[in-house]
Amino acid sequence: MLDKIESIKSEALNASSGISDGDSLEQFRIKFLGRKGTIHELFEGFKDVKPDEKGKVGKALNELKVLLQKIYDDKKSEYEKTGGADDEADITLPGRTFNKGTRHLIHQAIAEITGIFSKIGFDIYEGPEIEDEFHNFDALNTPEYHPSRDMQDTFYVDSKGKDKRYLLRTHTSPGQVHVMENSKPPIRVIVPGKVYRNEEVSARSLAVFHQIEGLYVDKGVNFRELKGTLDHYAWEFFGKGLKTRLRPSFFPFTEPSAEMDVECILCKGDGCRVCKHTGWLEILGCGMVDPNVFQSVGYDPDEYTGFAFGIGIERTLMVKYGIPDIRIFYENDIRFLKQF
Ligand code: PHE
Repeated sequence: MLDKIESIKSEALNASSGISDGDSLEQFRIKFLGRKGTIHELFEGFKDVKPDEKGKVGKALNELKVLLQKIYDDKKSEYEKTGGADDEADITLPGRTFNKGTRHLIHQAIAEITGIFSKIGFDIYEGPEIEDEFHNFDALNTPEYHPSRDMQDTFYVDSKGKDKRYLLRTHTSPGQVHVMENSKPPIRVIVPGKVYRNEEVSARSLAVFHQIEGLYVDKGVNFRELKGTLDHYAWEFFGKGLKTRLRPSFFPFTEPSAEMDVECILCKGDGCRVCKHTGWLEILGCGMVDPNVFQSVGYDPDEYTGFAFGIGIERTLMVKYGIPDIRIFYENDIRFLKQF
């Protein structure tokens, strides 16, 4: 028995130098200290030891047990100190994935559309969201009494003690006025931004949404250029060769005015629920700048002509992706957002 104890002792000392990680440490424990391990076995055999040897053997056995336990404890604390977790990491496991954020769909669209226009020479201007009545209405040929002011229900800002009446811009068109007030033709500019209307929130309208205004002023700008520019935009944004049409319309600040439709992306013009069986989807308002607008910014309408257009971003995206409800843009539902 004493010989056996001695050989186990050297075996354990040997094995201890091979402990290099959590696994080998655990194997050591199981082999020597475990419930079916060597120490347990030796203690089991202790009852068969001759009575006169019991004292010696018992002492050696206890010493062995203490030694093995100490080897185990020392190795364990050494291993824990060196950050054992590393050794336990299973590098074959797939990594943890993190949800990556993306730009919101509306901002992606603004970037894409401004990109399309800047490639053909348009600058970008961002005007204020709080405007006075002159920039939002009067300079755009929409005086107080003009019935078209009712077209856009306005949020007025408390202007007590101010010289003018202020409001949240109802469209990006006042951007046209700012640009013309501050520069001389030729002007090619687009104005992206938020606009506000006192409208009831529904599947089709919100009180806050986004527009991109466009303005081109120079000598001899004509309607054909308006159509060419907008076709270029529509084909870049919605797809090459898509049919477009200009439909006569009315805006106080353009004359003549039109709205542009594209062939329904879903049914390709055959007629479906999305295009209300017309085969067409409206994407923007446009027209030739009204001479009265030029006059209010001090341009000579006999010298300059120009065109302007206003693109509704949410509306445009609804058309492009067949999104049925405008409210979904602002619900921040990740299942919606991560599709773009
Ligand atoms: N401002 C118009 C609107 O909000 C759109 C528009 C802009 C129309 C420029 C013509 C020219 O509906």
